[in-house]
Amino acid sequence: MLNASRRSSVRRVVEHAPVSRSVVKRFVAGDSVADAVRTTKALAAEGLSVSLDHLGEDTTERAHAEATTAAYVEVLDRLAKADLSRWAEVSVKLSAVGQALDRSLAVDNAREICDAASRAGTTVTLDMEDHTTTDSTLDVLRELRSDFPWVGAVLQSYLHRTEADCADLAYEGSRVRLCKGAYNEPESVAYQRREQVDESYLRCLETLLRGRGYPMIATHDPKLVDAALALAGEGRRPPSSYELQMLYGVRPDEQRRLVGEGRTVRVYVPYGSEWYGYLMRRLAERPANVAFFLRAVATRG
Ligand code: FDA
Repeated sequence: MLNASRRSSVRRVVEHAPVSRSVVKRFVAGDSVADAVRTTKALAAEGLSVSLDHLGEDTTERAHAEATTAAYVEVLDRLAKADLSRWAEVSVKLSAVGQALDRSLAVDNAREICDAASRAGTTVTLDMEDHTTTDSTLDVLRELRSDFPWVGAVLQSYLHRTEADCADLAYEGSRVRLCKGAYNEPESVAYQRREQVDESYLRCLETLLRGRGYPMIATHDPKLVDAALALAGEGRRPPSSYELQMLYGVRPDEQRRLVGEGRTVRVYVPYGSEWYGYLMRRLAERPANVAFFLRAVATRG
């Protein structure tokens, strides 16, 4: 499915099918910064923390990378004005701020976003993209952390290298989001079978939870959430020393149940009009999401 999604004919059909909008609404807060702030406010009122993602990736034009940076600065200012920065941070894809064009452009843009986050009193997490960008993203992370020590990273358990990366990043003050990984990766670098990815996730969890950093456990998988809570309990980690994360629109009842138990739960909330790549990854990772899409098509039909 991820291969097909790269074809421009498929992209045209999905982007312009009227039904796509109703499916997008389940996973995306809306097009505008006002939608992002409104959704953050509603989630915060229920005790949920938020990481806002201004949608867009693989930017090929400088002006576009700069517009994305400006959009992040604007949303951070708006969060501060609405007194929401205690609840919400932002997630940034380096490819959206120019990584493929020029590394120094991406670093400058990321710094501008970090400055705005610092003014607002919140944090930034660098999303992780396909494996060809892992080294450069971790390099940029190191560079940013010398000025903004609260910048977080994402590691993907499907990559063979990730256990070692977890060990490197399990130090005091380090914020690491652990997810399974959402890109179509070759066998040479990534586990291909679900059980292997899950086993790797468990090993990475142990390393992060036994370490001294702040683990951000990003999964909807009930057995991995249970394992994380058990490991945290064994290690006598206070609930404030780690958090659980899930995507907007995915297992919302579970998100609220976990908050009810006194856990910190952060919802990853995408907003903006460039939703195509994000939606395709959500459809590809779960047959039930494709069924949801097809049901919407049938209902409209
Ligand atoms: P998976 O999709 O394997 O599902 C496992 C089980 O979870 C299912 O069998 C089911 O029991 C349950 N489940 C899942 N969805 C459900 C649903 N809708 N309803 C009921 N049960 C459901 N990826 C990446 O490459 N780079 C990144 O930067 C990020 N960032 C990120 C942030 C956050 C907060 C999250 C939650 C995820 C990401 N991801 C990501 C995406 C991640 O890599 C992965 O693709 C998805 O989270 C799906 O993997 P799961 O761990 O949820 O399990």
